[in-house]
Amino acid sequence: MQIKAPKGVADILPEDIFRWRYVEDTLRNMLQLAGFDDIRLPMFEQSALFSRSIGGETDIVAKEMYTFSDKGKRSFSLRPEGTASAVRAYLEHRLYIGKPETRLYYIGPMFRAERPQAGRYRQFHQLGAEVFGNDSAFLDAEVIALLMYAFEKLGLESLCLQLNTLGCKDCRPQYQKDLTAFLADHKTGLCSNCMRRSDTNPLRVFDCKNGKCQEVLAQAPSNIDSVCDKCSLHFNQVLNLLKGLNIIFEIKYNLVRGLDYYNKTAFEITARELGAQNAVAGGGRYDGLVEQLGGAPTPAFGFAVGIERLLLLLADKEIKKGEPEWIYLILLGDKALQQGFILQDELRKHGFAVRINSSNQTLKKQLKQANKLDAPLVGIMGEDELNRGCVILRDMRHGTQEELPVAELIDKLGTV
Ligand code: HAM
Repeated sequence: MQIKAPKGVADILPEDIFRWRYVEDTLRNMLQLAGFDDIRLPMFEQSALFSRSIGGETDIVAKEMYTFSDKGKRSFSLRPEGTASAVRAYLEHRLYIGKPETRLYYIGPMFRAERPQAGRYRQFHQLGAEVFGNDSAFLDAEVIALLMYAFEKLGLESLCLQLNTLGCKDCRPQYQKDLTAFLADHKTGLCSNCMRRSDTNPLRVFDCKNGKCQEVLAQAPSNIDSVCDKCSLHFNQVLNLLKGLNIIFEIKYNLVRGLDYYNKTAFEITARELGAQNAVAGGGRYDGLVEQLGGAPTPAFGFAVGIERLLLLLADKEIKKGEPEWIYLILLGDKALQQGFILQDELRKHGFAVRINSSNQTLKKQLKQANKLDAPLVGIMGEDELNRGCVILRDMRHGTQEELPVAELIDKLGTV
């Protein structure tokens, strides 16, 4: 039986790569404008890193991690997201030394054992960005604005930016108390999972997809009403800064995000066209996580974009392939083939993209193959041209051709 890729895991085929590059390059350029450095993080980590940061009660850790033991019976998990690894690397390599602030970004696959559907996969790709060492509301607004600008550059206009504030370690306990009291009063309308969570981690009840629970939770007290003055000031400053940049947003009172590490600003960017899986990006502030993982108290803010979802939104958009010029050498006869083989090597050493046809077929057949490969330029060398030290250069797009000495080919290719 033929072996296929696992469910929810996709190949990215050569014919689609230019779309991926376009999206990745646009996002990467935007981040470089704002001083972010590229970091490559491992695909798997000790499982404890994720349970301690994302939270054992979250769906991600409780249900969706790919966890395995190695021969030494140590527990590892494929990374379900990048923030935890970024914090671990930040601490392990002391990336804070000599810097008032550290800005990192990463691109790569993440793994979550979710039920696959359009826009939801088991291996998917994120571009994530994290800033460490800055607690200002200006940073929250700067990073959100940067992301909105990148989406605008990609031609995505109908996105919705949703914001909430989750409070801090001073005001969160009071909110949790209020929420727990509310949940206790509405026990009958809640599923068993929500009931359990109301004791262990009440904020997580908002992740429940059950329609009945959602009806109940629509009446739940809002975080925004119970945050302390400091958090409220911070949130209002973020909103005002975004307004000043003419960025439209909505406040979503029950936006808690599916990860435990957030405090203060939390945000998501959604697209109606995506249906049920409508978040293209999400993030927020996580001022306690660095300390929680063993570092000094360090404020932090970040986000991650889901690349597949972004590509779904861009599916109808014309994207230029931007293929480099290249030449296809048609060589007629053994001697020309020998000479063409050497020429291929020389051209590559001069930085030109080149491929030879080594089939020794007729000119007509080789030209047919050049057409199939969409070769923009073709060099033709038969015995006649070889004897005169020449090559015929044909521009397939314009249907023109000229004969020139082989020695001049490199200069000529530099001008087309
Ligand atoms: P997240 O909201 O879990 O946040 O994921 C960010 C984005 O990844 C989502 O908005 C979505 O576009 C994409 N995504 C998530 N799960 C899937 C899936 N199964 N299939 C396809 N796309 C998916 C985080 O991961 C945080 N680490 C973001 C962050 C960075 N917060 C602070 N810094």
